[in-house]
Amino acid sequence: MNTIISNGNDKNCIEMASKVLNKDGLVAFPTETVYGLGANALNAEAAAKIYAAKGRPSDNPLIVHIASIQDVYKIASDVPENATALMEAFWPGPLTIILPKKDIVPDGTTGGLNTVAIRMPSHPVALSLIKESGVLIAAPSANTSGRPSPTNASHVIEDMDGKIDMIIDGGDVGIGIESTIIDLTGDIPTILRPGFITKAMLENIIGPVQIDKALIEPDPNLRPKAPGMKYTHYAPKGELTIIESLSYDNQAIISKINELVNTKKLAGFKTAVIATEENATKYQCDTILIIGKANGDSTIAARLYALLRECDKLDIDYIYSEAYSAGELGGAIMNRLLKAAGHRVINV
Ligand code: TXA
Ligand code: MG
Repeated sequence: MNTIISNGNDKNCIEMASKVLNKDGLVAFPTETVYGLGANALNAEAAAKIYAAKGRPSDNPLIVHIASIQDVYKIASDVPENATALMEAFWPGPLTIILPKKDIVPDGTTGGLNTVAIRMPSHPVALSLIKESGVLIAAPSANTSGRPSPTNASHVIEDMDGKIDMIIDGGDVGIGIESTIIDLTGDIPTILRPGFITKAMLENIIGPVQIDKALIEPDPNLRPKAPGMKYTHYAPKGELTIIESLSYDNQAIISKINELVNTKKLAGFKTAVIATEENATKYQCDTILIIGKANGDSTIAARLYALLRECDKLDIDYIYSEAYSAGELGGAIMNRLLKAAGHRVINV
């Protein structure tokens, strides 16, 4: 397939993409979190094409992207008061809300679940694409399943060129990690995936919120409520290990990483370290990847996936990363980093 790559600012871009969506084709587009791979959410055949292009397991449901709050009532069978309050507070923006679904949403979009994930993105290109096409857009992140989510158009091209109809280039995304997911179908509102909208921000609007236990303790017997959270994710090809100090002993982290790096270098392997600006000159690895300042959680979130992809480009065999739990986004960053590392953590 010949994939059209078009700049989101070009006059005809949105019109062309709208045509593709209305013919049940696939369009990758920027959102404020990561790039999405979109298709008509209300057409099972269109949604099926997403799974094929990504190589995604079919039990992993898709998020439906909408551009006006009224659209929620087309696809959700019950919209409780706390849902309305969250929509008013955080939409458009990086929050996905799980509600009971109406029959109009095919099982092919929700992976057979009787609930539907809904989000109104704030990126102007995403919003105008949904509005102009008149299509409710099912969109997972636009990466090959298992790879880091794309934070710019060239990441999407790497994974999707030749497999989808069109890619809209909207430059670098702002946030860099996927939306917060909150499930409002149970007794207590539950965060299924941490993100830019934090637990405290949600509780400020609707009161007590819990975090899906499967996210806190990586216990293989606990099944995450968001099916996608159980898969290996965001993983670079090289082996990634996180080095963490529970007593925040920076020197201990540096020494441990250098010890590991030197062992692997002696054995002839290529090594990289993902480090803060403050520590960047202290490592003896082949490649140093600077993720931002230690207290710069929004920069760290925005750069994480791009650095993991960079490791693949450079054919790095072993990657060591400092832990980044500081700041409001620390929890969400560590959630993604731990998954990318397959929960390989060394405590020093
Ligand atoms: O920021 C985002 O949310 C991005 C952009 C493109 O909007 N999208 C995204 O989609 O991250 P995806 O497919 O990569 O992740 C969706 C997650 C998966 O873990 C999936 O299992 C979960 O949402 N999910 C979707 N529908 C669900 C449902 N009805 N119940 C529970 N989890 C659901
Ligand atoms: Mg994804």
